[in-house]
Amino acid sequence: MKAKIAVFVSGGGTNLQALIDAQKSGVIESGEIVLVVSNSASAYALERAANHGIKSEVVLKKELGSQEAFEARLVEVLEENQIDMIVLAGFMSILSGDFTGRYDGRIINVHPSLIPSFCGKGFYGLKVHEEALKYGVKVTGATVHFVNEIPDGGQIIMQKAVEIQDGDTPEVLQKRVMEQAEWIILPQSAEKICREILREKN
Ligand code: GAR
Repeated sequence: MKAKIAVFVSGGGTNLQALIDAQKSGVIESGEIVLVVSNSASAYALERAANHGIKSEVVLKKELGSQEAFEARLVEVLEENQIDMIVLAGFMSILSGDFTGRYDGRIINVHPSLIPSFCGKGFYGLKVHEEALKYGVKVTGATVHFVNEIPDGGQIIMQKAVEIQDGDTPEVLQKRVMEQAEWIILPQSAEKICREILREKN
């Protein structure tokens, strides 16, 4: 038996790709990605899901009208697919305590800095790397953590440091953090949590 994973995305989906690749190579063996949920209809991540035969759902807050209705639809989709764990992989929408409380210990997120630096409300995507460069830190990295009601505030699962180099632009740094940290620790963390979920079930 495998834990059923839903991956929440909003954009390019390179972290989704890393999870798919990790499933193929056996790094993820205790879980299976059965669903991709996007809050944007134009996310390239949806194509990645389709290319690998993974079912996807688009859930649009704008169409549903409120955070409550948005989250109610997310819960519906998760229940329909009997999801055990949720991986936020570049999902750019904050989830309420109502939602995260329902899946306590079952939602993980990848953030492109060493939490507690450059995190919380307003720190997402390229902005995180812009701020790290502006501050002048010499080391940054990525963090995988549990998701609770505080943005980027849940318990840390894994972190990996990445060096900043002279002349880095936010784009160059983003790519290095993804390659050297995010794409490695996100699949490893997903496997760790899936293994724990299976242990609990048995
Ligand atoms: C990744 O760098 C991820 O860590 C970041 O957005 C990017 C998504 O890229 N997430 C956040 O900033 C969340 N606060 P992807 O769509 O190619 O995986």
